[in-house]
Amino acid sequence: MSSEDRIIMGQEQEADVWQYSLRPRRLVEYIGQEPIIKNLSVFIKAADERNEALDHVLLFGPPGLGKTTLANIIANELNVNIRITSGPAIERQGDLAAILTNLGDNDVLFIDEIHRLSKTIEEVLYSAMEDFALDIIIGKGPSARSVRLDLPKFTLIGATTRAGAIAAPLRDRFGVLCRLELYKPNELEMIIIRAAEILGVPIDSAGANEIARRSRGTPRIANRLLKRVRDFAQVFGNVAINQEIAKKALKNLEVDEYGLDRNDKRILETIVKIFAGGPVGVETIAAAISEEVTTIEDVYEPFLMQLGLVQRTPRGRIATNEAYKYLGIPYPEKV
Ligand code: ADE
Repeated sequence: MSSEDRIIMGQEQEADVWQYSLRPRRLVEYIGQEPIIKNLSVFIKAADERNEALDHVLLFGPPGLGKTTLANIIANELNVNIRITSGPAIERQGDLAAILTNLGDNDVLFIDEIHRLSKTIEEVLYSAMEDFALDIIIGKGPSARSVRLDLPKFTLIGATTRAGAIAAPLRDRFGVLCRLELYKPNELEMIIIRAAEILGVPIDSAGANEIARRSRGTPRIANRLLKRVRDFAQVFGNVAINQEIAKKALKNLEVDEYGLDRNDKRILETIVKIFAGGPVGVETIAAAISEEVTTIEDVYEPFLMQLGLVQRTPRGRIATNEAYKYLGIPYPEKV
């Protein structure tokens, strides 16, 4: 199976479109990310009371945690329109100019994968964000001249999985920086119960908890697993999802007790068996298992670290005592 279509990938897949109906639309419906939600509600209320555009917001964190959902909620709460695009979709300055000049006062512009904007587009965006104006060059050669176009006040919401990939001048122009964290199992349990209710799927809390613990801290994965487990429950005779059914279904889906799959296991085995527990550089691990460095960093590592199986150190990745336990290998004394 390619790493693109695995059930435990946080990245959005075409088959995830059904999940749109499960997305919360207001802040009060949002489960988890408490510090972010609390702060955002204050900033939104303040901007709304002043009848001003909210400051630009940068959302970063692993895929599947709800960055697009949050952008939509912010626009809903502000009672403004949202225009959604992505870094790679904006190829020319004209594309950006067309989008910006069509915004209304205080509207939200959401740019997903903002780290993938080209340098030239990024530079146009600077003055748009700061001065709400666009400097456009008209004509070529000696007759070329620069024209300044005023823009409506707007809120840029940028989303990225890699905060480190954003150039400092761009990052500095965001007034609000929000780092989304992996969700805790009890939060995912609530998200699963809410989704099951919307889908009309009977589930008990132990069943929801079993799915929650194995969803890599990621609502998108939790909802995907819920849908697959529902199939098992239906075939077993239209029964409600309980812990036993969830366990059986997840075993069949090759998601283990920890929520890890074959590739996570390969990463742990590589660090432990080939590199004596580390420290080993992520590039070396990537080469050893023929995987992209960014996939390891964005998809696998956050959850392995949340489980306390891997630690990041300045000298490289280290497998912890817990990782040895997980693999059933005695922890070497001198490590
Ligand atoms: N569905 C997906 N993510 C959610 C969240 N954070 N809160 C409620 N429902 C969700």
